[in-house]
Amino acid sequence: MNIVVGVTGGIAAYKSVHLVRLLIKAGHEVTVIPTEDALRFVGLPTWEAISRHPVTTSVHDDVARVRHVALGQNADLVIVAPATANTIARMTAGIADDLLGTTLLATEAPVLIAPAMHAEMWRHPATQANVATLRSRGVHIVGPAVGELAGGDSGPGRMVEPDDIAEAALALLAGGDLAGVQVAVSAGGTREPIDPVRFLGNRSSGRQGVALAAEAAARGAQVTLVAANISRDVLAAARHPRVEIVPVGSAAELGAAMADAAAAADVVVMAAAVADYRPIEVASHKLTKEGERLSTIELVENPDIVAGLAAARRAGQTIVAFAAETPSADGGEEEMLARARRKQRRKGVDVLVVNEVGWERGFEVADNEVRVIGPDGVVVATASGSKSQVAAEIWNSLLAVRPLL
Ligand code: C5P
Repeated sequence: MNIVVGVTGGIAAYKSVHLVRLLIKAGHEVTVIPTEDALRFVGLPTWEAISRHPVTTSVHDDVARVRHVALGQNADLVIVAPATANTIARMTAGIADDLLGTTLLATEAPVLIAPAMHAEMWRHPATQANVATLRSRGVHIVGPAVGELAGGDSGPGRMVEPDDIAEAALALLAGGDLAGVQVAVSAGGTREPIDPVRFLGNRSSGRQGVALAAEAAARGAQVTLVAANISRDVLAAARHPRVEIVPVGSAAELGAAMADAAAAADVVVMAAAVADYRPIEVASHKLTKEGERLSTIELVENPDIVAGLAAARRAGQTIVAFAAETPSADGGEEEMLARARRKQRRKGVDVLVVNEVGWERGFEVADNEVRVIGPDGVVVATASGSKSQVAAEIWNSLLAVRPLL
């Protein structure tokens, strides 16, 4: 997303260099707009180098692109850090005689300010009235903190630390009910190599897992998507600043990537179709009819990845597995759910999402129908529709059964 960071003339300006770095590291485009005064504390080359964008204080640069309003119009969030007493007063009055002033007037994006000034200036009724006015207009205010101020004084007025400003900013951008939640999702189907050109695979397209990752990110979560052999077209739906994609091929690679991702995750969703078996030996050359016998491939069982993750889970971590089931002709629905519950217990997972599959259902198609079995074995949700709609319902039901996410 596009974030504008306004920097005004306080000693805390140097801390905003770190703030800009944090925002860029989180995957955002950052444009810095210093005031003339801010440049006395930290110079223009520093802001250009750290943000990798041209920096100016003036409304008269880059006039052809109407920069004085374009930056504000294109911003998803505007941060002012540090926000001096003078800047707060100017914001309140709507003064627009520099680029930061015009940007603040032109933007409809959320605005977050981190005040920084001496305690007396903060306590002054003028400042307090200005802050109250800004608040009433919807401006978000983080801090100031109480602590040591420039010149050895102490009291309220210190700018809060860059990490806290970044956290407040990212939460604002996320805005959704999964803001701040760390998610690890596996998707797609593994391929177990036989020789350099052949593999044992399955028909999973990865659509449902990709939809789950995209939905979580859209609702504010930070997502690692471990993608097993998913086509570019399908994977495109997961492109989001908060989704990190880790491509993998075999079950062993997927297991290692998920173990890494799960270490920091609040929720682990194993939507991938993992091969239960792999060839005991992988030939280093292409097997031929004349040479080896291709009619028999000896297999060895793969470890159950989700069971391993569930056994190793941290307190408070939620583990979700999927079960693709074909209802048997005689037992029908109930028999299918009983089988799913046995699977849930065997694997030790909190939630099991059951989807009916068949030649024409589940795999490779756009629509899906699922049942979500909660921690006590009860079906907590049934969802059908596009895989995005189903993903939204699955997250809703996870939030319902695990309100502490
Ligand atoms: O037993 P079944 O293959 O039906 O279980 C499906 C669930 O278990 C899925 O969540 C899948 O990702 C996971 N699984 C696994 N490791 C395996 C096989 C399946 O984590 N080796």
